[in-house]
Amino acid sequence: MSPSGIRRIPVLFAAALAIAIGCGLLATWRDFSEPNWETFTDMDRGPASISQSRSAFFADGLSMRVPPAGTVPVDLAPFPYPPGGTGRTLAGRGLANPLPPTFPVLARGRELYERFCDHCHGPWGAGDGAVAVREPALGYALNGQASRALSDGEIFHLVTFGRAAMPGHAAQIPREDRWRIVHYLRALQREANPEEAPLPLLTPQERTKTTSWVARGKTLYTRNCQACHGEEGRGGVPNPNYLKATVPALDLVAERMFVGSSDDAQGILVLLAEGRGLPDAKEPPYPLYSATVAKYQSIRQVILDGNEAGRKDPAGREPPLHMPVWRGRLSEEDVDSLVAYFLTLYPWEEEDE
Ligand code: HEC
Ligand code: HEC
Repeated sequence: MSPSGIRRIPVLFAAALAIAIGCGLLATWRDFSEPNWETFTDMDRGPASISQSRSAFFADGLSMRVPPAGTVPVDLAPFPYPPGGTGRTLAGRGLANPLPPTFPVLARGRELYERFCDHCHGPWGAGDGAVAVREPALGYALNGQASRALSDGEIFHLVTFGRAAMPGHAAQIPREDRWRIVHYLRALQREANPEEAPLPLLTPQERTKTTSWVARGKTLYTRNCQACHGEEGRGGVPNPNYLKATVPALDLVAERMFVGSSDDAQGILVLLAEGRGLPDAKEPPYPLYSATVAKYQSIRQVILDGNEAGRKDPAGREPPLHMPVWRGRLSEEDVDSLVAYFLTLYPWEEEDE
């Protein structure tokens, strides 16, 4: 081979490579706004049927198939109670509300009640809804003795199937939402009859003084407050679009009550355990005691009357968690036992020996 021929080899090689790359690029180039080229069409088009259309595949000519006899959807829970009085009585015995009566459950229950029930039964369940005002036969009070005597299961059955002029709501309201409405209806009934037994927040034994004050507060807290205020009052539960982003912690209540030492806290616990709240003392046990009493009153009020969680972005959505109203459900003593429990949560520094 001549020297010039040898020199030409890399040039030829480079040209061949450039052409190969060019062809490769051309082959993979495509306009993604257009359908792809179909080279082998085997799997590009499936034989799926269009609903309601005729099928050439199935012998009966129907493209929509019926599930084999005896099968149910994975998420279907059976409801073995037939419509009518007997089914209702059985549902009353056999069903319990599967949801706890937490604030979100009640808030959703209220929303649904206002959407589906209010126009007949009225905003407070007194039977004076907008429709009922024009057609009295549709106004039926739900806060009377007879309705209060219904069990949760019976109410659930009534909402599911209806009765007489009341339509069934199973088709509009999913099952869990119907249970939320049951909780909300119970709340309306309690509201109309405050003298009636409150929710069983504590059993009678737990309510006796044999349980220590702080232990009682702790039981109440774990059952009713922890879901929002966090374990041992440490807070941190997210509350989207709430001013402070998370539900307030309660383990620093002592500081906010101006209780300065664990000794002072012990003194307050003794006063609270007497069951008469914090008295205005003629001889205050420590200099800031009157500030403690004032803060104690305001904390009691938030617990009894609830509070709306303010929005960070006023145009944004409502924060999902608000401080519920506990009046009528917690006694004054219950609230005192909660305050006592909060005082013990403060991380007091070890006293020097
Ligand atoms: C169209 C009006 C109407 C709507 C809407 C309606 N109800 Fe009723 N409801 C009635 C009437 C009327 C009765 C009484 C039925 C009868 O005479 O047996 C009744 C009865 C009841 C009862 C039985 C009360 C008792 O003491 O026996 C319950 C509980 C009840 N409704 C709850 C609800 C709930 C919860 C909703 C919303 C999901 C709702 N209702 C929606 C009209 C309505
Ligand atoms: C559904 C959630 C929720 C539950 C349950 C709940 N709280 Fe609250 N709580 C809140 C929110 C939200 C706030 C803040 C409201 C505000 O910004 O004023 C709050 C505020 C408070 C405050 C005032 C704290 C402060 O920093 O101002 C106290 C005290 C309190 N809750 C005690 C309780 C007690 C006691 C219970 C149980 C009996 C309880 N909470 C149950 C959501 C809840």
